Amino acid sequence: MEIHPKISPLFLFSILISFSFMITLSHTAELCHPSDENALLEIKSRLGPNLSFFDTWRPNTDCCSWINVACDKRTHRVNYLAVGQNRDLSGQIPSVVGQLSHLETLWFNDMPGLTGPIPSALSNLANLKELMLARTNLTGPIPSFLGRLTKLTDLDLSENRLYGPIPGSLSQLSNLQQLKIFKNQLTGSIPESFGSFKKLFFQAYENQLSGPVPRSLVRADFSWVDLSSNQLTGDASVLFGRRKRAAYINLNNNAVSFDLSKVEFPSKLQGLDLSHNVIYGSIPQQLAKLPLKVLNVSYNQLCGPIPTGLTQFGSDAFASNKCLCGAPLAPCKSISLFFHPSFM
Ligand SMILES: *[C@@H]1O[C@H](CO)[C@@H](O)[C@H](O)[C@H]1NC(C)=O
Ligand SMILES: *[C@@H]1O[C@H](CO)[C@@H](O)[C@H](O)[C@H]1NC(C)=O
Ligand SMILES: *[C@@H]1O[C@H](CO)[C@@H](O)[C@H](O)[C@H]1NC(C)=O
Repeated sequence: MEIHPKISPLFLFSILISFSFMITLSHTAELCHPSDENALLEIKSRLGPNLSFFDTWRPNTDCCSWINVACDKRTHRVNYLAVGQNRDLSGQIPSVVGQLSHLETLWFNDMPGLTGPIPSALSNLANLKELMLARTNLTGPIPSFLGRLTKLTDLDLSENRLYGPIPGSLSQLSNLQQLKIFKNQLTGSIPESFGSFKKLFFQAYENQLSGPVPRSLVRADFSWVDLSSNQLTGDASVLFGRRKRAAYINLNNNAVSFDLSKVEFPSKLQGLDLSHNVIYGSIPQQLAKLPLKVLNVSYNQLCGPIPTGLTQFGSDAFASNKCLCGAPLAPCKSISLFFHPSFM
């Protein structure tokens, strides 16, 4: 008598399912490059191995599926890494990040516990387009090697404790569209080389930058420039010009000095804050013809009639100048030459 083992179709089906599941597992595990996986696991072990932030970062699972990681669809190399928005992570930026050589986007942001310098290992990341190290406790200088990462389009180092000068090498980043270095402790002057930037969105406010605004910026064309709350001096009129494209220029709270009467404004200017400087001359009529939404020229040495059509900005916007007059300030004293005492 032959014994036919009774194989239920359900049993066969479940074998099939688990087999295909194993294939899928091994297949997805393969997608992540081992050296990328090792680098990421090292980052996890440095910044908080037991934190729920890294829950999905587990050995022998596809690192391309880990939260805050992404891979190139074709090469399956890690091209995106975003660590941060977390108060529990702590430590320095691990040098092993430099082994993720296919990274195009790298963020370490909103992490009070991130300390130490910007590591030189980042100089290996030649494919980086977007580097954001912002709102952390990073210290030390802005490294000049960043100027060699020539694919960078966005560089955000804002709200850290970075000090020292702005490296002139950053002007070699010919693809750069945004440079945010505001709210640090940067010193020294704005590099001469920044005259080569075209259409750059540039925010360097709330630092300790000093020295004259370089003459070379007459060639630059910023789409946005905010240098407020520094100690800049000299002729900042080089930032203006009828052919420039700036939508916003903020020099508030510096010590720049130039004759405003001679300035030609970019025709698309929507925001202009020149308050708390040593700017003299009078306000050009052209200002009233711009699509301005923000205007402040208070606390300068300006004189003469305010062009008509600027009253919506209120008297605060013109206060504490040498002798500005007319709405929204007090009317100008009409001085008629004919009745002037010296003619009598
Ligand atoms: C993480 O957890 C493991 C096991 O519970 C423990 O041995 C290790 O000390 C912990 N590491 C940290 C940095 O807390
Ligand atoms: C830097 O560290 C201090 C003290 O540890 C903390 O209060 C502050 O929020 C941190 N800064 C940032 C930007 O995270
Ligand atoms: C202009 O700037 C001054 C000084 O910074 C400030 O007090 C005032 O409120 C500002 N006015 C407007 C309209 O922005």
